[in-house]
Amino acid sequence: RSHGVVVFGSVNVDATSYVGEFPRPGETVHSHGFRVALGGKGANQAVAAHLSGAPVELVARVGDDANAEVPRQAFAGFGLATDGVASVPGEPTGVAQITVSGTGENTIVVTSGANSALGVEVVAAERERIAVAGVVLTQGELPVPTIEALAAACDAAGVRFVLNLAPPVAVAEEAVAVADPLVVNVHEARTLGLGAGLADDAPADAWREAAASVVGALARSVVVTLGARGAVAADGTGSWAVAAPEVEVVDTTGAGDAATGTLAAMLAEGSRLLDAVRAAVAAGALAVQGRGTVDSYAARDAVLDLAERMEAP
Ligand code: RIB
Ligand code: NA
Repeated sequence: RSHGVVVFGSVNVDATSYVGEFPRPGETVHSHGFRVALGGKGANQAVAAHLSGAPVELVARVGDDANAEVPRQAFAGFGLATDGVASVPGEPTGVAQITVSGTGENTIVVTSGANSALGVEVVAAERERIAVAGVVLTQGELPVPTIEALAAACDAAGVRFVLNLAPPVAVAEEAVAVADPLVVNVHEARTLGLGAGLADDAPADAWREAAASVVGALARSVVVTLGARGAVAADGTGSWAVAAPEVEVVDTTGAGDAATGTLAAMLAEGSRLLDAVRAAVAAGALAVQGRGTVDSYAARDAVLDLAERMEAP
């Protein structure tokens, strides 16, 4: 088995407006900045894993429209292999309309377009790529049957399956059960009954215990991201809370993807879960400090250096 990360992922073109405060329904506001760039949770995570030093293969679908040039150029710029990225005739490339407020929070509306064409038949066709992967990674932006087929294929091939259930779509329990780890934020966790009685700002230790209590049942291992507070993780060997360093937040868009892609890369090279989560939290803390998603991601050395300097759990 390789150290490679195979990402079955969504690709979007992110159109982001930066505002002081979010507009309310019926309200018009001026932005003070606008950018168009590569996005999509899958593409973002693939770039993060690639920057972490893992051999990455992205299996994805873009449209046959002009927007497809944005991901094509970005992938070439990062040097990411794209032989698994095909264009779908007659479909638009996925787009995300994003608004970022003065505090760095965001709202996102995604139109899936060509991402919807990444069907179960692609999982069958990519059997060989899956068989030799160190880690297979996917997210909630792909069709649910595809996520489920991928979980089953990884289980059958004995390949580690990392599932970031973002956004929180209704995936069969059997598919979630294969995840090693399942990566969710607190909102996504609650949709699975994880941390149901816990507030967003409940102590990290309470989230750690909640995660530990579902290991081996809900999923093989679990990571719950706590935003600016870091993350908690649990597997069969233990459970941990990893505090994030305090940083100045510019744009949180895709920071979770920086973390998840980094996590997958570290696991693929054989790191234990705690060390992978430390690197993931560091990657997220670096990503929130710059605008956009992939353009704000740090390279491996900077991530591991920060992880090293973070408080021990
Ligand atoms: O997680 C951030 C991503 O979510 C954005 O890049 C956007 O495309 C949406 O998929
Ligand atoms: Na950012």
